[in-house]
Amino acid sequence: MAAPVVDAEYLRQVDRARRAFRALIASKGCAPIMLRLAWHDAGTYDVNTRTGGANGSIRYEEEYTHGSNAGLKIAIDLLEPIKAKHPKITYADLHQLAGVVAVEVTGGPTVEFIPGRRDSSVCPREGRLPDAKKGAPHLRDIFYRMGLTDKDIVALSGGHSLGKAHPERSGFDGAWTRDPLKFDNSYFLELLKGESEGLLKLPTDKALLDDPEFRRYVELYAKDEDVFFKDYAESHKKLSELGFTPR
Ligand code: HEM
Repeated sequence: MAAPVVDAEYLRQVDRARRAFRALIASKGCAPIMLRLAWHDAGTYDVNTRTGGANGSIRYEEEYTHGSNAGLKIAIDLLEPIKAKHPKITYADLHQLAGVVAVEVTGGPTVEFIPGRRDSSVCPREGRLPDAKKGAPHLRDIFYRMGLTDKDIVALSGGHSLGKAHPERSGFDGAWTRDPLKFDNSYFLELLKGESEGLLKLPTDKALLDDPEFRRYVELYAKDEDVFFKDYAESHKKLSELGFTPR
């Protein structure tokens, strides 16, 4: 599909949609699932074939029924009234705007948002998102395929400061932090503490401790939330622009 024309009216709609997302997230407490939706739309990117990425394709049944996307139809449906009121904005932009607002309103850093992503109806094959049961080499395979780095892997894993796993969606259960509606560096603090009563650690979370290159960043982000926020904002912007070159 053609790239949208980002004119003054488009930008006005982005501003209004941003406010609508703030209200929606405040009333429904849905920041975590909005962030997960944005990540799962963008995280299918393949830098070599330039397929997948932040292109709105996750709204199609073919893609949201992938096992790794279980539960995300809820977020797709929540977004629909905002699309109806702001029809110029592409789904691809709306998904990424939702993710950026989710981080902002839960106390996280401001992630720069540049509109203009084009929508695609081509869904990637299943299997491009990470498998939570695997280790560091798998994380590198998946994130390097997106064109991202070790630092991006650790910073973005801090997204698990929000939300929780649901047994009926992923087979895992529980939150990573004591306050799963607050975006902060507690994910890294909990990771370094080891097993904590009632909190979740996926094998891929634990892999960040075992690998020395990853662990360096875990320790840095646990110690200094400002550094985490700065790196997270950069990595999240990169993630949100996979497959998209802002003009
Ligand atoms: C939830 C895996 C990276 C944001 C989950 C769940 C799993 C998972 C298994 C539970 C889903 C459910 O049962 O509802 C992974 C793996 C990753 C990864 C293996 C590889 C590093 C990320 C990234 C972000 C992110 C990069 C965002 C920057 C979230 C959020 C939730 C979540 C916010 C909570 C959703 C909710 O509460 O409904 N992730 N994730 N994850 N993930 Fe990740």
